[in-house]
Amino acid sequence: MKFIISGGKRLEGEIRLAGAKNAATKMMVASILTSEPCVLENFPEIGDTEITAELCRSIGSKIEVESSPDGSSLKIHTPEIKNSKVISLSRRNRIPILALGPLLARVGEAEVPILGGDKIGPRPVDIHINALTAMGATIEVRDNSYFASAKNGLHGAEIVLRYPSVGATENTILAAVLASGRTAIHNAAIEPEVLDLIKMLQQMGAIIEVGANRNIYIDGVKELRGVTYRIMPDRNEAVSFACLAVATGGKVLVKEARHDDLLNFVNVLRKIGGEYEIQEGGILFYRPVENKILHPVNIETDPHPGFMTDWQQPVAVLLTQADGESTIHETVYEDRFAYVKDLNLMGAEIKVVSKCLGEKSRLPDGDGQAHHNGGQACRFAGREHNHSAAIKGPTRLKAASLEVRDLRSGIAHIIAALIADGESTITGAEEIDRGYERIDERLRALGAEIRRIA
Ligand code: EPU
Repeated sequence: MKFIISGGKRLEGEIRLAGAKNAATKMMVASILTSEPCVLENFPEIGDTEITAELCRSIGSKIEVESSPDGSSLKIHTPEIKNSKVISLSRRNRIPILALGPLLARVGEAEVPILGGDKIGPRPVDIHINALTAMGATIEVRDNSYFASAKNGLHGAEIVLRYPSVGATENTILAAVLASGRTAIHNAAIEPEVLDLIKMLQQMGAIIEVGANRNIYIDGVKELRGVTYRIMPDRNEAVSFACLAVATGGKVLVKEARHDDLLNFVNVLRKIGGEYEIQEGGILFYRPVENKILHPVNIETDPHPGFMTDWQQPVAVLLTQADGESTIHETVYEDRFAYVKDLNLMGAEIKVVSKCLGEKSRLPDGDGQAHHNGGQACRFAGREHNHSAAIKGPTRLKAASLEVRDLRSGIAHIIAALIADGESTITGAEEIDRGYERIDERLRALGAEIRRIA
């Protein structure tokens, strides 16, 4: 599947955010923890939720989706676990490993495939496995699957994550809500999507406390009940659309976007030369007419509440239009700049290096200590990973034929094509469909010239 895009149009109008991909998929898995029906409102109809639906169906869930342009709704009901060994799924994402906890809780045994997902680094799952093991699971890594058992059930444990991994935090929470006793997760991820999952679980009857300093405490309960829960809006879509609006010199009301989820993005946008107006029901993103020149910035990605790793790709495209040199220091994934080659093919001037560009820029002269990441040095410092980018601008982008590498670089391709001279072809559109609902149709409503070809 391809997108054909003609650049040069200002995008204007309204676009409504879909429910958050990275909350919806986990919530579908959470529904397996109860034998009662659950309803997820504001449900995104995207590739990743389809893949997760296949996983849940093969476990025994009955699923119905009611589609609506104002937010679809998913009914999911798993009265019994028919199958806890789900190794042959037609497509893969990062979700199956999260089913280990719920399956262990309900039937004491589970097998899920080795993970797929984006090609943005090795993405190991040691933190997940260590946490489940501490809770009493035995996990065997087989050729193409993880096999887990907990014959005597899962029990609470004191768990210190070596990095605040989103998936490992969610996995541990999903395993702990029905485990016997209390689980403490130290150095937990506190991304809004994690908190949204916690809210859903609380409404199902779970007892989960979010303490200070990345500590989460879970008191296991005997059973959970069904729930109707409205999924938070997708903040990654919001950032993508904000960058689109400013990059094309347009004005876009992103409906349902929430200021709270974008605290550390809106500053960057304003420093670059974009503006925003918080309105009832959404945020208007635009480029004021007087801001003829965009300004360079230095960004470092971090776990929440830092600048999110999923935001750097659309912002990088915007920075190709800024007057001067910008830097992006990626500290979450070691290999998330492959898309830079594609932008350079279009005329951008971006250099990727293994040096920690951001950390250096934040150090006061002569101090010699790492201030980045709350005092922790970058995990990739002194290693070979090309995890910093220097972007020189402004550069005029020209159309190109590109192949999508992963979801977020796919949206960078789309934004670049929308500001480039000429007609670009982007193959691998299904990768973008994994995370962005009907992106072509929604962008056309803003005036974009984008066609989908099978
Ligand atoms: N990590 C390990 N060991 C583990 C788990 C993680 O070393 O056991 C490392 C990873 O390799 C990575 C870092 O820890 O370097 C962070 O990974 P994390 O586990 O936090 O990421 P994730 O749960 O796999 C989710 C989102 C990503 C998003 C990250 C960071 C989902 C399905 N995915 O991934 O979203 O970038 O958190 O916020 O929730 C996307 O939506 O395009 C996407 C990639």
